[in-house]
Amino acid sequence: MRLAVIGCGYVGLVTGACLAEAGHDVVCTDVDGTRIDQLNAGIVPIYEHYLDEVLVSAREAGRIFYTTDVGQAIRCSEAIFICVGTPPKENGDADLSAIDNVARQIAIEARSSKLVIEKSTVPARTGLELRQALTAYSRGSGLTFRVVSNPEFLREGTAVEDFFHPDRIVVGVEDESAAAEMREIYRPILERKFRCPVHPGSCPSAQSAQLLVTTINSAELIKHASNSFLALKISYANVIADLCEKIGADVEEVTHAMGLDPRIGGQFLRAGLGFGGFCFPKDLQAFVHLAGTVGVDFGILKAAERVNKQRIDRFVEKVHRALWVVKGKRVAILGLAFKANTDDIRFSPALDVAKRMLAEGADVHATDPEALSRAKAVLPELTYHDDPYEALRDAEAALICTDWDEFRGLDWQRAGELMARRLVIDGRNVCSPAHMRGLDFEYLSFGRELVGASLAHAAH
Ligand code: UGA
Repeated sequence: MRLAVIGCGYVGLVTGACLAEAGHDVVCTDVDGTRIDQLNAGIVPIYEHYLDEVLVSAREAGRIFYTTDVGQAIRCSEAIFICVGTPPKENGDADLSAIDNVARQIAIEARSSKLVIEKSTVPARTGLELRQALTAYSRGSGLTFRVVSNPEFLREGTAVEDFFHPDRIVVGVEDESAAAEMREIYRPILERKFRCPVHPGSCPSAQSAQLLVTTINSAELIKHASNSFLALKISYANVIADLCEKIGADVEEVTHAMGLDPRIGGQFLRAGLGFGGFCFPKDLQAFVHLAGTVGVDFGILKAAERVNKQRIDRFVEKVHRALWVVKGKRVAILGLAFKANTDDIRFSPALDVAKRMLAEGADVHATDPEALSRAKAVLPELTYHDDPYEALRDAEAALICTDWDEFRGLDWQRAGELMARRLVIDGRNVCSPAHMRGLDFEYLSFGRELVGASLAHAAH
């Protein structure tokens, strides 16, 4: 099919690239001319595993094009994916002005009826508003627009893999013909007829994805309910970690055993600095706000949000416990991205830690495998190093803030020789306490044994 993708952010690019790779003809458009120029020059503006290779392959096959001409993109396509941003407003509600603008453009530029697919994360009932807006803006044209809600469940860092191997594809529709068109768009994925960039031989045999047809409101709710539940799980694990510290238990032993119960599941129970990124914090807020507007008190989510905000305080308490006075001390921050395998620093807990250390007068040296240039732009006060060992040189403490494998696999013996004090405060539980003890480090993490006699006796 001929598809348009409006908005070349991470969701738009992954969606456009993967659908082109799966055999559709895709035109991607964005108001950001620099981004379109980069894409036309073969430069991928975000760091995402396998995305470069999928974009190259789709481009060589002549299946993907980029343009700033949104009118052309709309006119030449049968179905349009809206992938524009929905940033949070002051009150936690989502700002839907970009969606409204796109609705106006579609209504004005279209010369034939279209399937309009809402892929941006939006509060429930946005799809119905979108349909009304399309009808109002196209009055007198004789065109009809069918709206579909097709939420995405991609995780940054594994988005291409997730797109080709989804657990479920949700399509919220108003009529069966829209569902049939969505089934056609996703047929290569459902029937597993695509060249998988992640598993070049053959994909591990897993069950094929289910296509779930729902109402538009349900589809929108599924997205927010899923993200919020995962965030809730993380906050739950974090409170368990706090309890483990007080009681003298090990959070990983506890969450591992809990997760073996299939009713609970082992994922998203990793304790640490808590959740960040552009999805969980804002989606949680938007969900709480939506519930509030219809008179439902989502206290359980408010608590999850509060627990998450307190993670930074809990981490800084550990820094104080180990360093006592922070002012004037050199500290190394390992990791700036909100999680591993991405260069995304939006709402990153690591940046909150860096800001707190700066505010206390520390000499902050930072490193990250991918996020340095983005971090430099928002926090120029830090000293940045490409080489983690240079960040650690002469540091009185290493603060691990992102769960990159690079930090797990660091030569910690070498790091210890370079540091002014062998002290690691691990906000992502990436190292093992036993390993760090073996290397004569003092070591604090979340919900696990504390290594270092003097720390054990320090006030807390
Ligand atoms: C999340 C969801 O997992 C996706 O399904 C969804 O499509 C996406 O939001 C979205 O709405 O676009 P993402 O934000 O890429 O994906 O990242 P996650 O892997 O979910 O991690 C979110 C945060 O939680 C990270 O800061 C991560 O470090 C933290 N986390 C995750 C934990 O602290 N503990 C865990 O056990 C898991």
